[in-house]
Amino acid sequence: MTVLDGKALSNKVKEEIKLETAELKKEGIIPGLAVILVGDDPASKTYVASKEKSCIAAGIFSEKITMNKDATQERVLDRIAKLNADDSIHGILVQLPLPDHIDTNKILETIDPKKDVDGFHVSNVGQLVTGNPNLVPCTPLGVMRILKEYGINPTGMDACIVGVSNIVGKPMMNLLINARATVTVCHSKTKDLKAHTSKADLLIVGVGIPHMIKEDMVKDGAVVIDVGINRMTWGKYEGKLVGDIDYENVANKCSYITPVPGGVGPMTIAMLLKNTLNAAKMSRQ
Ligand code: GUN
Repeated sequence: MTVLDGKALSNKVKEEIKLETAELKKEGIIPGLAVILVGDDPASKTYVASKEKSCIAAGIFSEKITMNKDATQERVLDRIAKLNADDSIHGILVQLPLPDHIDTNKILETIDPKKDVDGFHVSNVGQLVTGNPNLVPCTPLGVMRILKEYGINPTGMDACIVGVSNIVGKPMMNLLINARATVTVCHSKTKDLKAHTSKADLLIVGVGIPHMIKEDMVKDGAVVIDVGINRMTWGKYEGKLVGDIDYENVANKCSYITPVPGGVGPMTIAMLLKNTLNAAKMSRQ
């Protein structure tokens, strides 16, 4: 069994981005990312702070915009419109989830697709689905990068994705279909989850249920990718981050597995920097 070291790979990718950013600066372009945080969700605050720190380390300009949880939709839309028109900003990310009174789709569709470094705009989603991807959601992109690094080719594999979110499950499905894996997507209404997961050569789980995938649900020799990040507040793992995979019991069955923390999580941020760099490069044309 090989542990897929997302932390080490993310550091390598971030170093590459730093060098490319320095090259771009010679042309007078400093990649810029704006992150909008509405409200004070503690997990979102942590993610945003970490994104900001990574930008600075890579030489990417970072602008954090925090808005009160009662901010009106119009104010958020207005802020996005200003960022769309701002030539020093190449990437715009609105941290999700948004407060209930705000229409998330309306917000995401207002971001200029060329600056949509999350890849959530329908135009970017459409390009991914039609096999002509441009800006692709960071977490699934990070998963593909890990597979590539370790020489794991999904072509022809039976892949099973658990979780059908717009952020992870659906774009992951499209990336794997584009790579010609045979893909099954499971979700909360799936009748017999184990029947699907236990047949998978490649199992990717992102549902946010700690240790949901047990040993008997995984095929011998499978490649297992854990996208869950759950902060435990009780029991044996109190205060620790754990994934959706019961790692201790599953790891020995696998050919490859990502740990939590140190697996997919760090790759998400690395891919955000990469998307921002790519958006900055595209702005030249
Ligand atoms: N919330 C959880 N994951 C993400 C992500 O990848 N992007 C944004 N914008 N919000 C998130």
